[in-house]
Amino acid sequence: MPDKSDAIVFYGATGDLAYKKIFPALQRMVSAGIMDVPIVGVARAGWSLEKLRNRARESVEKSHSQLDAKTTELFLNRLRYVEGEYHDPATYASLKTVLGEARRPLQYMAVPQNLFEVVFEGLRGANALEGSRLVLEKPFGRDLASAQRLNALLHSALDERSIFRIDHYLGKDAVQNLVFFRFANTFLEPIWNRRYVESVQITMAENFGISGRGAFYDATGAIRDVVQNHLLQVLSNIAMEAPANSSDPEVLRDEKVKVLKSIPTPLADTVLRGQFRGYLDEKGVAADSRTETFAAMRLEVRNWRWDGVPFYIRAGKQLPESRTEVFVKFKLPPPSLYGITPANNYMRFRLSPDMVIALGASVREPECPRCGHELELVAMHNHDLESTDPYKEILSDAMRGETYRFARQDYVEEAWRIVEPLIHDLPLPEIYEPGSWGPAAGISLVPDGWY
Ligand code: BG6
Repeated sequence: MPDKSDAIVFYGATGDLAYKKIFPALQRMVSAGIMDVPIVGVARAGWSLEKLRNRARESVEKSHSQLDAKTTELFLNRLRYVEGEYHDPATYASLKTVLGEARRPLQYMAVPQNLFEVVFEGLRGANALEGSRLVLEKPFGRDLASAQRLNALLHSALDERSIFRIDHYLGKDAVQNLVFFRFANTFLEPIWNRRYVESVQITMAENFGISGRGAFYDATGAIRDVVQNHLLQVLSNIAMEAPANSSDPEVLRDEKVKVLKSIPTPLADTVLRGQFRGYLDEKGVAADSRTETFAAMRLEVRNWRWDGVPFYIRAGKQLPESRTEVFVKFKLPPPSLYGITPANNYMRFRLSPDMVIALGASVREPECPRCGHELELVAMHNHDLESTDPYKEILSDAMRGETYRFARQDYVEEAWRIVEPLIHDLPLPEIYEPGSWGPAAGISLVPDGWY
């Protein structure tokens, strides 16, 4: 059995995700010389191969600023297309013909999660699972029970090392760097704990709405869409212990699971859900929808390193700006000289849209002996994130069978356990104005304010 996948199949080939993320990532892989196998799109849209190629061309032309014509032709020539209903066994029979001799295809389900089971059974019925690696988009399940059911189903035919639960945040350089930066810098480790850290804030703000994804978003909401996956991954990277053996992906994934196991489910009065005014008028949204487009919460990590340190998370659409950021605030030192109270030191990690690592420090004002001054030292600032496409990174890992940047079964289930009380029997969310920082109560969740 080859170690590297010898074909990639993606379901949902005519969809939005393929257009926005998958085609550009595949093109980058071809360009980097790491995608030299057939690329098979599957969909039920009545399309032809030519139409798929045109769509792929349009997608890469739109997303790449510098496109090499030869690589684009190479990429388009690798494309194949299988048209068919996901319920129909004939679809999988055609797929097998197109796959020919491939023995280790990567089967990527870029379809809504209610179709995962259908495609999986289709592949099983056609005896096409053996040797396959399965890649599944997030959210994986809708809650703890459905994630457990889906895991049991997948494990009835595949072992865990053949299952790749995508969280594209783990493909982001800036998110990977959180772990690297922590453990590669001696000065940080002694203070990275409850004795020195006062609080941690994780913000994922977006200054746009649901971008025409009404039906998907209304069935999902902010907590399922980004908190259960992206933001808990960021939190795990901030809070985890150094893995005992960094060359074993399972040891790294064990450490992340330990973090989640230390987080109790949040209490109702430490969570706030909001909905931007105008959301109900969006296409695909139910007129009486209770779905949240904003969520803020306080979580605890009850272990020796973090007990007592609040971890605040907030995520929302239609906020004043777009940025994903981690802000680690340190405790104040004893009263300073000259009667000046210094500002809290902090570390700020911006993960998106650019990558920033900054340190907040207090210095004395040069001209004024009794004045303190807050200074931000920017250690790193990288605007050029185009070269590091998260989908390219994670699909390349999956092609090689590398699991460490994917969510393991126990991790996904723990993440659902944490948010479980926040996604069922929900009260009406509080309304907030587009362009504001969400409902007022979300702002006051953090006693000394959000950064
Ligand atoms: C996706 C969510 O997973 O992540 C979107 O479904 C969100 O709602 C997006 O906008 C943000 O990702 P990025 O990489 O653009 O910050």
